[in-house]
Amino acid sequence: MMPKQILILNGPNLNMLGSREPMVYGEQTLDDIHKICNTAASQLSLSVDFRFSNSEGELVDWIQSAADKHAAIILNAGAYTHTSIAILDALRTIDIPIIEVHLSNIFQREEFRHISYVSKAADGVICGFGSQGYELAIHASAKLIP
Ligand code: DQA
Repeated sequence: MMPKQILILNGPNLNMLGSREPMVYGEQTLDDIHKICNTAASQLSLSVDFRFSNSEGELVDWIQSAADKHAAIILNAGAYTHTSIAILDALRTIDIPIIEVHLSNIFQREEFRHISYVSKAADGVICGFGSQGYELAIHASAKLIP
């Protein structure tokens, strides 16, 4: 049997990890995080479909089609977290577990980062644990996937 697959979506500027504000986001690249996710998922007999986009519309498209192919979504929507009603609405069209992830502790940062539209649809939120947050989210998804 094929392992159940988790869709892991990364939003704008997360392709710049490694060089982008390392004091805030750490030194690991998105590729490093992808590898961490593959390892964590395979230990739980799951697989991951790991994607990045700078485009809000592309993220919406991927969310809309997730219910057909994926058992759960892990979403780091980057700055769209704080602005995108379109992503919130897309998340509300699907009925699979949704885990929100942020590398940084958004509540320690500027006030505009304290608001998350994604949280309104997410089953849970993990923030402030750097790349480890993705591993934690995979473990959380494994518990939520029926
Ligand atoms: C982020 C936090 C957001 O506020 C920011 O816009 C990002 C990254 C994080 O992972 O900590 O791009 O989602």
